[in-house]
Amino acid sequence: MEKIISLAKRRGFVFPSSEIYGGFAAVYDFGPYGVELAKNIREAWWKAMVYDHENIVGLDSAIFMHPRVWEASGHVGGFSDPLAECRNCHARVRVDHLLEEVGVLADEKMTEVEINKLFAENREKIICPKCGKKDFTEAKSFNLLVQSNLGNFTGDWNKEPTYLRGETCQGIYVNFKNVLDSSRVKVPFGIAQIGKAFRNEITARQFIFRKREFEQMEMQYFVHPSTAEATYEEWRAKRFQYYLDLGIKKENLRWHQHENLVFYAKAAWDIEYNFPFGFKELEGVHNRSDYDLTQHSKFSGVDLSYRDPQTNEKYIPWIVETSVGLDRTFLAVLTDAYTEEKVGEDDTRIVLKFPKKLAPVQVAVFPLLKNKPELVEKAREIYQALKQDFRSEFDDNGNVGKRYRRQDEIGTPYCVTIDFDTIGQGEDKSLEGTVTVRDRDTMEQKRVKIEDLQNILNQ
Ligand code: GAP
Repeated sequence: MEKIISLAKRRGFVFPSSEIYGGFAAVYDFGPYGVELAKNIREAWWKAMVYDHENIVGLDSAIFMHPRVWEASGHVGGFSDPLAECRNCHARVRVDHLLEEVGVLADEKMTEVEINKLFAENREKIICPKCGKKDFTEAKSFNLLVQSNLGNFTGDWNKEPTYLRGETCQGIYVNFKNVLDSSRVKVPFGIAQIGKAFRNEITARQFIFRKREFEQMEMQYFVHPSTAEATYEEWRAKRFQYYLDLGIKKENLRWHQHENLVFYAKAAWDIEYNFPFGFKELEGVHNRSDYDLTQHSKFSGVDLSYRDPQTNEKYIPWIVETSVGLDRTFLAVLTDAYTEEKVGEDDTRIVLKFPKKLAPVQVAVFPLLKNKPELVEKAREIYQALKQDFRSEFDDNGNVGKRYRRQDEIGTPYCVTIDFDTIGQGEDKSLEGTVTVRDRDTMEQKRVKIEDLQNILNQ
């Protein structure tokens, strides 16, 4: 994990937020290559969910919503994690996590009483991760919603706070009727959304795995209650396949079934990824029953039931949800790609073997030497042409060996070098008009004609 964090910083994928001020716990920024990788992940998800399904449409709802949304959803009352404090060093800890670490099955969905019972039974085994002592307070539920004073100009705004959304799907539920009335969808149909979510996570750890400001990619699929179970199984299968299609190694993925379901959920399975700290949740696939639309109907007073245009049957649709974090996908993709390879006697190269469609840069173009105008001019010409079709980078820093290493570390699948042969000034005149293409994974170099370059790279 430390190697990945260090590479992510060194090569401009992920920076700690406000680093010059000492950082800001559990908040991170994407650097120049990180922002590209994140964009490619978003696009792959959007294509798989929206463009590949004629009955799924997109939405971009606001981060702020009416505070009643969060009462209806159950977040104001019950969106919490079990928090305890070390009496010695005052570190705040998540009790379910500490229990899990000593092999006791616990999760945040347990009640305060249930978790405290387990905590009491296992006190002897649980040590403070900061000071190593075993003296904790009882666990208390700590609400994760992040509050704000938006639109409230009084001093005591926290009596009636507004919230930064804790999950993006609530914006989908409150727009269910708008989407139904304004587009041609009929049940069954889905609404997909990508956007920021905020949670006051107690423990800041595991890099971008658990952030306080993060991004979700969620899809809510509305179905007739009688088909919910079958639809749920279909989406489970599709979502697992999605990661294989994305290029994630199968052995790093597995299913985990939730045993402690929240009261409204009929089924909850996670797709777990083998992160450097073990298999952990990447995506949740949930059968949420009619809970969400029923709650919002009740709290808003607006009828959110659906009338089937053919049978005239009126009912509240059930919801099958697929929910994944962009940041967790990013970390999974980075982990899956991270490779150290021995090259030569005592040299190692670090290479990010990203799936080619996700790589921040797809092709890098080098002039062999930076101070030979003829080489630079030709390289620039080729770069200009390639960047119309591929995410391309022009690189003339250091020698070619160093450039290869740098491109390997940012995961660029192909490097194209323009040398004296290319411009007819080398020994072998038959090589005029050709360039060297170097493959990231095999390190093999091939001479190809400039006019074939676009086609070869496309293939
Ligand atoms: N609407 C359902 C929902 O929000 P969740 O299991 O709380 O369910 C769904 O979150 C996904 O969002 C998780 O599987 C994870 O990928 C991502 N996620 C949740 N909390 C996160 C955090 N603090 N940092 C990064 N990603 C997070």
